Amino acid sequence: MSIYTSNGNERVLSQQAFLVSETDETGTIVFANDDFCKIAGYNIDELIGKPHNMVRHPDMPKAAFKDLWETVKRGETWTGFVKNNVKGGSEFYWVYATVYPVLRNGKRYYMSCRKKPVADEIASSIALYKTLV
Ligand SMILES: Cc1cc2nc3c(=O)[nH]c(=O)nc-3n(C[C@H](O)[C@H](O)[C@H](O)COP(=O)(O)O)c2cc1C
Repeated sequence: MSIYTSNGNERVLSQQAFLVSETDETGTIVFANDDFCKIAGYNIDELIGKPHNMVRHPDMPKAAFKDLWETVKRGETWTGFVKNNVKGGSEFYWVYATVYPVLRNGKRYYMSCRKKPVADEIASSIALYKTLV
């Protein structure tokens, strides 16, 4: 069973899709699970060592990521709706993300766990993000 369906330009996540990625303190990707790789359209080797903004969609306001980084750097958990590009940029997908800091071997990393948002949450995010820069 596929973890997403494509309607041409949007990849709509299935209910069981669970996308995980991890970065170091600088936002460099150190881990991504199979669901993240499949939906983002990359092999794992293309992701590890790259800045996480490689999947950023231009419709995402800078303010959302400023808030994300300020929150996790304070040691808190950020939740929010994110629109990402698929490799190549001709498709996108929406997720509901929970991002939080983890400590491993004395070093801080950040984890993001993502699932399918419901349609009206996507609609509100589209409206909100149009008002932000
Ligand atoms: C754990 C973690 C996961 C992230 N996941 C995404 C993501 O899926 N998409 C995205 O555009 N940015 C993600 N970011 C934020 C990026 O690091 C970056 O701040 C954002 O893409 C905006 O790019 P910029 O900071 O260069 O303006 C994530 C950050 C962290 C810490």
